[in-house]
Amino acid sequence: MEKKYVLSIDQGTTSSRAILFDKKGEIVCIAQKEFQQIFPQAGWVEHDAMEIWASVQSVISEALAKASVSAKEIAAIGITNQRETTVVWDKHTGLPVYHAIVWQSRQTVDICDELKEKGYNDLFRNKTGLLIDAYFSGTKVKWILDHVQGAREKAEKGDLLFGTIDTWLVWKLSGGKRHVTDYSNASRTLMYNIYELKWDDELLEILTIPKSMLPEVCSSSEVYTVTEKSLFFGEEVPIAGIAGDQQAALFGQACFEPGMAKNTYGTGCFMLMNTGEKAVRSDHGLLTTIAWGLDGKVEYALEGSIFVAGSAIQWLRDGLQIIKHAKDSEELAKQVNSTDGVYVVPAFVGLGTPYWDSEARGAVFGLTRGTTQAHFVRATLESLAYQTKDVLASMEADSGIKLKKLRVDGGATANNFLMQFQSDILDVPVERPVVLETTALGAAYLAGLAVGFWQDKQEIAENWAIDQAFHVQMDDKTREKLYNGWKKAVHATRTFK
Ligand code: G3P
Repeated sequence: MEKKYVLSIDQGTTSSRAILFDKKGEIVCIAQKEFQQIFPQAGWVEHDAMEIWASVQSVISEALAKASVSAKEIAAIGITNQRETTVVWDKHTGLPVYHAIVWQSRQTVDICDELKEKGYNDLFRNKTGLLIDAYFSGTKVKWILDHVQGAREKAEKGDLLFGTIDTWLVWKLSGGKRHVTDYSNASRTLMYNIYELKWDDELLEILTIPKSMLPEVCSSSEVYTVTEKSLFFGEEVPIAGIAGDQQAALFGQACFEPGMAKNTYGTGCFMLMNTGEKAVRSDHGLLTTIAWGLDGKVEYALEGSIFVAGSAIQWLRDGLQIIKHAKDSEELAKQVNSTDGVYVVPAFVGLGTPYWDSEARGAVFGLTRGTTQAHFVRATLESLAYQTKDVLASMEADSGIKLKKLRVDGGATANNFLMQFQSDILDVPVERPVVLETTALGAAYLAGLAVGFWQDKQEIAENWAIDQAFHVQMDDKTREKLYNGWKKAVHATRTFK
């Protein structure tokens, strides 16, 4: 049977999706399933890794059924995932020993503080490109080994495996045949030396994590293994692409040249700039990370991580109940010409790039008797754009590259008001592509390249098509005034503790 499709599995923070792509990189079918968010204590976020696995199986079945596509027609599977989220499981039973600890979870702040007090910040930074923060996997693995009864002994005997969600899914889909990850995911663990391309013994010793738990690190595009027949409609389909979701989006946006950047507006907001084969060290609070490993070489990116973006719009909807649907925010924001000096700083779980302030909490400034819901909603939307501006300023300072345009994707890019304001405040054109599912598309491309479904990056770049470009309309004086107000608001937020 002709292999007409590539299946992409996009395992995100709030839902799992299966998307079938055809040769033109167009979407044939999408299935999506949300799963439970577990909050055992304030600031902790966990997932049930078995529920994630079940949700992935369910969306795969649904997507194939909806499109009447048989597993025999799938050329390859690509996996992309919420990064850093940590699973530890027993290799004999296939059962996790604890919930998956999610990237957002702050339960390892104490471990991080201790490491920082011991003066390890530079060591970790110089080897991993990251900083010591509860965001990354390393301290989450340590927490599980320290807190789950019997886990450390089992890990030392070689009975436990660690993986980010990509690793967990490859292991499950292949019936336990392979324990692997790719460079992009490994680079988010705080245990991987991104310059020497190996798990770092010194860091593992500091974190007290046995090396035997760690997956083999592979390129982002190769046939790692095949699906276990009994779990995949009787077929052995090659699993041939893996990338963390933000790196996959960079690939799906065809940002292949150094200096090209994308911004994804999801739960948080993640801007990545391709820096080619050069790992650029940041002096401005950015992360140095691996974009992908492909064609025998590794390419790097600079990343700015904003923890709260789309979730601020969810907060307007579910928390404050000012809007009924996320899309209503655009309508409301447009009812006023400006926020009239209102600023919302959505530091609900602290602030990421460039501040890395885990103690900060959200704040609102500039309220008057005349402030309406429209001003409030507009200020919340604008906060996504201002946070992105903070990141871009760091990126330009670190890379020495002035951005010419920004490619965007993710749910909130449907909001034309936000996209226009983003372009205005950055002073850079913003480009929204036709296919907004660039994360899933990136993973599909990586898998498709490995099996010859697509030939090369050139073919992929030609598939990229623009839906709408937003050009700068704001004058310099207005931009400066607005952004200065934001900087003052952030400063005040951070000093109020
Ligand atoms: O680093 C966290 C990021 O990978 C999560 O992405 O889209 O699942 O919120 P998302």
